[in-house]
Amino acid sequence: MINKETIQRIMDATNIVDVIGEFVSLKQRGSNHIGCCPFHNEKTPSFYVSPSKGIFKCFGCGKSGNAVGFLMEHEHYSYPEALHWLADKYNIQIEEEQMTEEQREKQTERDGLFHVSEFAQKYFADLLYNNEMGRAIGLSYFHQRGLSDDIIKTFGLGYCLDKWDDFTSHARRNGYSDAVLGKTGLTVFKEDGKSFDRFRGRVMFPIYSISGRVLGFSGRVLTKEKQVAKYVNSPDSDIYNKSHILYGLYQARNAISRADKCYLVEGNVDVVSMHQSGVCNTVASCGTSLTIEQIRLIKRYTPNVTVLYDGDSAGIKAALRAVNLLFEESMHVRVVLFPDGEDPDSYAQKYGSTQLQEYLRDHEENFVKFKTRVLLEDIDNDPIRKAEVLKEIVRTIAIVPDMIERQEYIKQTAFKLNVSETILTQELAKTMANNAQKAWKEEQRNAANDSPEPQPSSPQKPAEVSEQSPSIPTPISNERPAEAQEKQLIKLLINYGSKEIPQDGIDEDGNPCQINLPIAEIIVDEISENELSFDNPIFQQIFNLFQQSIQNGTPLPDANFFAMSSDSMLRNTALTLMLNPYNISPNWKEKKIFIPSLESHLRQDLKESILTFKQKKIDRELERNAFQLRSCPDDSDDTLILMNKQKQLLEIRQKICNELNRVII
Ligand code: CTP
Ligand code: MN
Repeated sequence: MINKETIQRIMDATNIVDVIGEFVSLKQRGSNHIGCCPFHNEKTPSFYVSPSKGIFKCFGCGKSGNAVGFLMEHEHYSYPEALHWLADKYNIQIEEEQMTEEQREKQTERDGLFHVSEFAQKYFADLLYNNEMGRAIGLSYFHQRGLSDDIIKTFGLGYCLDKWDDFTSHARRNGYSDAVLGKTGLTVFKEDGKSFDRFRGRVMFPIYSISGRVLGFSGRVLTKEKQVAKYVNSPDSDIYNKSHILYGLYQARNAISRADKCYLVEGNVDVVSMHQSGVCNTVASCGTSLTIEQIRLIKRYTPNVTVLYDGDSAGIKAALRAVNLLFEESMHVRVVLFPDGEDPDSYAQKYGSTQLQEYLRDHEENFVKFKTRVLLEDIDNDPIRKAEVLKEIVRTIAIVPDMIERQEYIKQTAFKLNVSETILTQELAKTMANNAQKAWKEEQRNAANDSPEPQPSSPQKPAEVSEQSPSIPTPISNERPAEAQEKQLIKLLINYGSKEIPQDGIDEDGNPCQINLPIAEIIVDEISENELSFDNPIFQQIFNLFQQSIQNGTPLPDANFFAMSSDSMLRNTALTLMLNPYNISPNWKEKKIFIPSLESHLRQDLKESILTFKQKKIDRELERNAFQLRSCPDDSDDTLILMNKQKQLLEIRQKICNELNRVII
């Protein structure tokens, strides 16, 4: 128990900005400090810390409290643990009773795990300097790998004696129970009741939480025997979850904040070596592939990650793999490849810290550039493989959430691949629409799975079911009477609007001639001339956009325009129609008419699309007119007008049908 006066002294000494600043990168904004909330995922800061009031509040997720509350929430400390942490920080003496054996047993399990881990770390580190074998084997190994005593201490490195149960019996003598020894994995218990040290004969790398508590270990073997694992790690426990932790983050976090960049390496020794070389903003994922939780840890300090990999093919593959997740979390990703066979540690040891830093500076490239370069390396100018590379790169760019960044990548890639930005942008729009569609289907599927009464046909074959579900959440899927005709016309408009095709026209002398007109102009003319409109409001919106840019002489809306639109209905509809830009009209197939080029194909289809669109509208007009006619008294003036209109409409229809080469039955 901590007495009230001590608590008061701790609270008086506490500066909440100091405390939270150890975990969150804060910036002063007036009398408050703000940062990105560590309790939920956000891109723009809504986490406020008020030093004068001693409280924090997140306007995003609503979490709030004082410094103690923050530590309890963030570090999962108990109330007394949080007070202890603060007392440590501000050098405040806490009078504590000696723990009895019972009290020790009554401690929560977590506390026990923390304690034994810290105890083990101290013991292993102590052996390294104060034990003959520790010095002869462990310390000399680290020295031989070029690590200084300073850096060994900074990382709390140690050695576990090559004895059956030296550590386990030492811990037992100090009152630690078999339960905590087993749960942390420091001791391995066999079924026959025998137990031994997990890490015996290994040099020890303690793994710290962000606040510097020991959570687990990674132990490296010293021999080169192939049959034993090079590294042995603590098993996951109540306090250690390897996919939520980054090796070196405790030692690196301030440097990461300052540099606004984090280097991500593969190995423990790489981290230690980089720090020794003055590159202290370096962490490693502890032998696992990078997880979302680890990325979010980095993101608390910076959005900039540079992944460092070995230049061999395995390293390149690893680099290519690691990155999608980073992109999805809006990180800015760069890559440095080391020469074949070198890792950051071996490079630093071979060439020294100055050259390492220069290498990092000179060989950093953004991920898209890196990927393009790597993929282009072995395509031998093969156009088919180049097209594959293009698609693959676009798939990566499509994951980048920031549109300006995407655009920049498109520019660079267009240059590298020597293709036009328009082609890439169109491919990008398609890919993004595809992704959006997939995500939407996924959502639908999840929603279906979550619904209390699942459809009888859905559970076993979600993939097939989703194929049958409507493709996008727009009015497109909700077919209206003229939907198909409208859709076809809009498809032509967005996919081929700027393409010029020859039209029959009249020259200055009044003689018939051919003039080239953009498809968009032809469609807009035809539709507005007859004062026709679209039933589907999104189609009408798209049409209006084209009409406006033709009237104003501005560039026609393109893939990029729609991809960037903040109107999600418009964006989804347009991009979906771009997915499938051209279907050969079934009529031509049926009639076995061979169309030689895309252009003549387009010309025919354009004609047909406009005509069928008009026909559909006329049919509806005819219906409406006929209905009115039926409800009119025979002798009224209106009847005559309506009959006249009917006749005109029928004539127009006849003309359209003639043009369409169809026989009216
Ligand atoms: N690793 C692991 N278990 C293994 C091998 C590797 O957990 N059996 C993890 C370790 O965290 C290691 C990292 O993967 O640091 C990279 O492995 P590797 O490249 O083989 O080792 P290095 O880091 O280069 O180690 P060293 O320089 O000590 O040989
Ligand atoms: Mn190495």
